[in-house]
Amino acid sequence: MPQNTFTITDNRTGKSYEVPIDHNTIRALDLRQIRVNPEDFGTMTYDPGLGNTAASKSSITYIDGDKGILLYRGYPIEQLAEKSTFLEVAYLLIHGELPNQPTLDKWTHDVMHHTFVHEDLKRMLQAYRYDAHPMGMLIGGLAIMGTLHKEARQVQDEKVRNKQILRILGKMPTVAAYAYRHRIGRPYNYPNSDLDYTSNFLYMLDYLHQSHYDVNPVLAKALDVLFILHADHEQNCSSAVMRSIGSAQADPYNAMAGAAAALFGPLHGGANEAVIKMLAEIGDVKKVPDYVERVKKGEFRLMGFGHRVYHSYDPRATIIKKVAYDVFEVTGSNPLLEIAVALEQVALSDEYFVKRKLYPNVDFYSGIIYQAMGFPPDMFTVLFALGRAPGWLAQWNEMITDPDTRIVRPMQIYLGHSKRDYVPMEERKA
Ligand code: CMC
Repeated sequence: MPQNTFTITDNRTGKSYEVPIDHNTIRALDLRQIRVNPEDFGTMTYDPGLGNTAASKSSITYIDGDKGILLYRGYPIEQLAEKSTFLEVAYLLIHGELPNQPTLDKWTHDVMHHTFVHEDLKRMLQAYRYDAHPMGMLIGGLAIMGTLHKEARQVQDEKVRNKQILRILGKMPTVAAYAYRHRIGRPYNYPNSDLDYTSNFLYMLDYLHQSHYDVNPVLAKALDVLFILHADHEQNCSSAVMRSIGSAQADPYNAMAGAAAALFGPLHGGANEAVIKMLAEIGDVKKVPDYVERVKKGEFRLMGFGHRVYHSYDPRATIIKKVAYDVFEVTGSNPLLEIAVALEQVALSDEYFVKRKLYPNVDFYSGIIYQAMGFPPDMFTVLFALGRAPGWLAQWNEMITDPDTRIVRPMQIYLGHSKRDYVPMEERKA
């Protein structure tokens, strides 16, 4: 009868160890018993970037990177993008099931009821420099919220947690819109809770006290779909940060600030901004082959290409490409689109990219859409953060309530000096 175990033989000692397998995974701590001498620390695993280490069990998002499948709580991203709304998806991710109509109505009311921010927060945001990066303002704004809602530190209290979830979802678009208005030197707009979540965000960005102002429904719908596509992506870099900070039982505002800071990096959510810079730098379809050659020589990476888990077309990129054409019907096409399409064609037929299974990711086309909608490039990652907020909160909530959770504290392989004595200044070499 086959056993669900591994038998590991340590050739240094000839001893064998039986280690249980659960979900194709062994517990790293089971390796600790493998040692040569009783006083040894025991065996560890080395996994920079945690490419093959499960740090949590999760029921939120499933990705099959080879088949290009992405499911939120079991529902395919394609169906959610077509049929759902961002707030409904946020409820699904955080609470685990699609809400019925009364539940969705209450959830929508509760989130929209929390869109106003404390005037102190507004004043603090106004103190940022005129050219502050809006991601810096969003990260700062989230941390400031932690100082305003002090009960948030009671992370073990479900009621308190749920209250902060509503506050964060409600207030993040307001902070993001303030950051944008700050940058362009316009007065901040207060939220309008008569509008849906995404229309309210666009309203706060654009409203200039016109007597008739309507949010364009096609653009609001497109942005809502983009938010859905970004809403969660299982254990990505920023969600891992959210869980990591949260594991120390910091309040969710500070954990969100940390997650947003991780997202800001150009290898993560900052890639959409980097794609636009790259396309502008290429500047002409004719220059695409030369640019690709330089990427292959290792001079730089093709931004918006490649993914740690997708080794086929990112399903979100397929949906985004469709959304792009809806947006361009309203805004007119983005001249960078032609360069992007040419770049994609060259890259997808080139052996370098084929061999490494490098395909366009979610960031390749999203920036082009945002730019056509009138967003400046430094707002792109802010838009990613607004979309990702329910994912971070769902991951945090799951982590807090998981009895397996321990404070994150990775191990290291120490390669430094062994103990040595302090050297007085006069004896140190130049
Ligand atoms: N352009 C050129 N070569 C690449 C690229 C790229 N964009 N991405 C990976 N490679 C090459 C890399 O040089 C390496 O080649 P070799 O085996 O010859 O050394 C091979 O492919 C594997 O790369 P890796 O760095 O081991 O892959 P990773 O899983 O650690 O990195 C990634 C994933 C997304 C950071 C990387 O693909 C990348 O830097 N892409 C560009 C930035 C980007 O678009 N980021 C957005 C990711 S999607 C949104 C998100 O999750 O935030």
